Amino acid sequence: MDSYFTSLEGRLEGKQTVAVVDNLWGDGGKGGWIDYLLSIGDYSNVIRFGGGNNAGHTIKVGDTEIISHLVPSVQFNPGAIGIIANGCVVDIEDLFGELDSLRKGGIDLTERIFLSGAAHITAEYHRVIDGTDTKIGTTGRGIGPTYSNKAARTGVRVNDLFDIERLKRDHKNFYDYFIGSGLVERLDEIHMMTADTQKMITAAIKDDRNILFEGAQGALLDIDHGTYPFLTSSNPTSGGIATGTGIPVDNIDLILGIVKAYATRVGEGSMVTEYHGEQADELREIANEYGATTGRPRRVGAFDAVAIKYASSLNSKDILITKLDCLDTFENVPICTAYTYNGTPTRYDGQWVSEGNQIDHFPREARILEHCSPVLEDMPGWNEPTTEVRSYGELPQNARNYVERIAELTDTQICGISIGPEREQKIVK
Ligand code: IMP
Ligand code: MG
Repeated sequence: MDSYFTSLEGRLEGKQTVAVVDNLWGDGGKGGWIDYLLSIGDYSNVIRFGGGNNAGHTIKVGDTEIISHLVPSVQFNPGAIGIIANGCVVDIEDLFGELDSLRKGGIDLTERIFLSGAAHITAEYHRVIDGTDTKIGTTGRGIGPTYSNKAARTGVRVNDLFDIERLKRDHKNFYDYFIGSGLVERLDEIHMMTADTQKMITAAIKDDRNILFEGAQGALLDIDHGTYPFLTSSNPTSGGIATGTGIPVDNIDLILGIVKAYATRVGEGSMVTEYHGEQADELREIANEYGATTGRPRRVGAFDAVAIKYASSLNSKDILITKLDCLDTFENVPICTAYTYNGTPTRYDGQWVSEGNQIDHFPREARILEHCSPVLEDMPGWNEPTTEVRSYGELPQNARNYVERIAELTDTQICGISIGPEREQKIVK
């Protein structure tokens, strides 16, 4: 039954604002689909609404690889403007580093990147504090400490840079960093980039221009809805788009959730379907699962329908499946359909759970997750390459069975499947 597979074109029709977010712990391959959407649609703005340079995706400029952390994906779309909106935290040194290396590679984004005056700035001391983290396994980029200052109302926003005397008076530490880092000498450049991005986005919507919201991280790293405390300090779920940009919630026309064909996670925190030893190494090598920001080997595991169903209920039931080709060589492709609790009896979600109980709804509490093991359904693999496949019908039957089972278990509909990083390696109806 291909009723789980719906037409992306159909879903996009008449949709002015489209978001791509990740329905797990990030690293699902948002970049590839964003690039694809930019190639088929006339998007004038690509907007980052949360997170900072903890994000990372790899792009190719000629023969050189550039890792993009903060710059929205407009590098190859000269018509598009990139916006780093108020929900983001910005390491300006790093942003300049990225823009400078792009310029060296022949891509000059001057006047094409705008930075919200209300975005909070990451300074050296934020990175230093973050660098002492051993519990969460952060990216060490100062993200948590910057958002902490934001919540404590002691942070520095981009607009604060334009009154140096006041900055010196109210934020001496930051002022010292700003002078010491040499950023003060690039104040004019910062000023040129800074905008009231809420106003810009509102105007673009009013002008009937098409907009793409580019998610970062993933739903289960959301500070409110994720696996606290093992998560990031922002709201990567689709809800973060409204607060992170300042547009009304009902101005988001379509949300596409990225779902990788297997599970990965970077950093600490429970991962119920995690593989270990050789099984993990094999998938990690085939799929090249190493962090784009930190280079850390990613934790890999079986598809977790419990986690994805929950994440899709947070983000979107319109999903894009990625990296299906990475499973091409496996005899069996297990799917986790439920968890078994194996801890001591405890209260959870208004009832008692005890050893041997089956849990069907994702329990986001660390104290429960730590004691869960996966109930696996073994699906037969397809054992043939899919990277040349260009239509759904050409996919091996077992591969179709696999993705349709995923959609069934997670209560989602598939809008596209990618079987490689190239633009052509996208299967849509
Ligand atoms: P932080 O965002 O650097 O504070 O890191 C908090 C947690 O989120 C750590 O487990 C990181 O590995 C994870 N994380 C942050 N950004 C990303 C991302 O872009 N992809 C995947 N994991 C991320
Ligand atoms: Mg990434």
